[in-house]
Amino acid sequence: MERTIIVTGGAGFIGSNFVFHMLAKYPNYRIVCLDKLTYAGNLSTLKSVLDKPNFRFVKADICDRKAVDKLFEEEKPDVVVNFAAESHVDRSIEDPGIFLQTNIIGTAVLMDACRKYDIQRYHQVSTDEVYGDLPLDRPDLFFTETTPIQTSSPYSSSKASADLLVLAYHRTYGLPVTISRCSNNYGPYHFPEKLIPLMIANALNDKPLPVYGKGENVRDWLYVEDHCKAIDLIIHKGKVGEVYNVGGHNEMKNIDIVKLICKELGKSEGLITYVADRKGHDLRYAIDPTKIYNELGWLPETKFIEGIKKTIKWYLENREWWETIISGEYQNYYKKMYGDRK
Ligand SMILES: NC(=O)c1ccc[n+]([C@@H]2O[C@H](COP(=O)([O-])OP(=O)(O)OC[C@H]3O[C@@H](n4cnc5c(N)ncnc54)[C@H](O)[C@@H]3O)[C@@H](O)[C@H]2O)c1
Repeated sequence: MERTIIVTGGAGFIGSNFVFHMLAKYPNYRIVCLDKLTYAGNLSTLKSVLDKPNFRFVKADICDRKAVDKLFEEEKPDVVVNFAAESHVDRSIEDPGIFLQTNIIGTAVLMDACRKYDIQRYHQVSTDEVYGDLPLDRPDLFFTETTPIQTSSPYSSSKASADLLVLAYHRTYGLPVTISRCSNNYGPYHFPEKLIPLMIANALNDKPLPVYGKGENVRDWLYVEDHCKAIDLIIHKGKVGEVYNVGGHNEMKNIDIVKLICKELGKSEGLITYVADRKGHDLRYAIDPTKIYNELGWLPETKFIEGIKKTIKWYLENREWWETIISGEYQNYYKKMYGDRK
């Protein structure tokens, strides 16, 4: 094998798409997925690759130093890409503790193992939410890599803390790190608690479509495959110690997305119900991706209208995947596959 890459959080939304991308593009790489299988991790997502000889799945917590060291000892990875995180803002507002544990301590544990085993690259998958938000009436403003960190939620604060720690490990120990800060992703295997899959699933079941506040909040949407391609470029060609913003200049109001989903599915906008706004709800996110374009030549390839059509088609064709999640049945998949095996 040319290279071994540990992908943490590879049973989640973006991590699984990254695993598929890497296995398809680099048949000579060994891809090892380390995932705790929290409520957001779904082993059945990885069903199509579990038997590949150059793929390995390991159920473990990134905060578990012993388990992480053992895996590094066994695999001697060249690269680590850390997707593992608690990722839902609403849950962080209800219960911040686990966010601090996984997103900050877990990152430190992984980087300590990287130092010990002398890896070539540690890549941290971060978020544009570390920059806080932008006003709705200043469409000329965008987040650049030098925008000050100014977080709003326990989720974004935990991600920002991890980013600072990653940069400190580079400065203090010379760890070869990179960070990507991406805008909102959408696409296949997105857990149905997040806006787009939630609206698709509810609309298909003729259930109410709950929209926060007036739905005026703006997000900069990127098709998940484009994000995976950006990370692929960064780990191969990105400069060590650098942060890269990843986004597609594709700003949409939440309410317009929900209306578009209704239109594409032939459902009535009457299903839309406005609910009390999220506490501290960020108004607008918008990424300036000039640096990754200039340095690495990355540009998003999927236009939003194509991407949302592909995503809706995927949810229509893969009903079983999200229906088993909604029913809770997916959590038994690991038991079915691995029984009590450790
Ligand atoms: N979804 C987005 O729009 C978006 C945008 C920018 C950045 N990000 C970042 O990308 C990464 C992946 O996001 P996602 O949307 O795929 O998340 P997700 O919630 O779908 O998946 C997270 C995965 O991490 C695993 N995990 C959680 N805690 C763990 C632990 N302690 N040890 C090992 N595995 C653990 C879960 O089981 C799950 O498989 C996150 O770091 C997130 O902050 C997400």
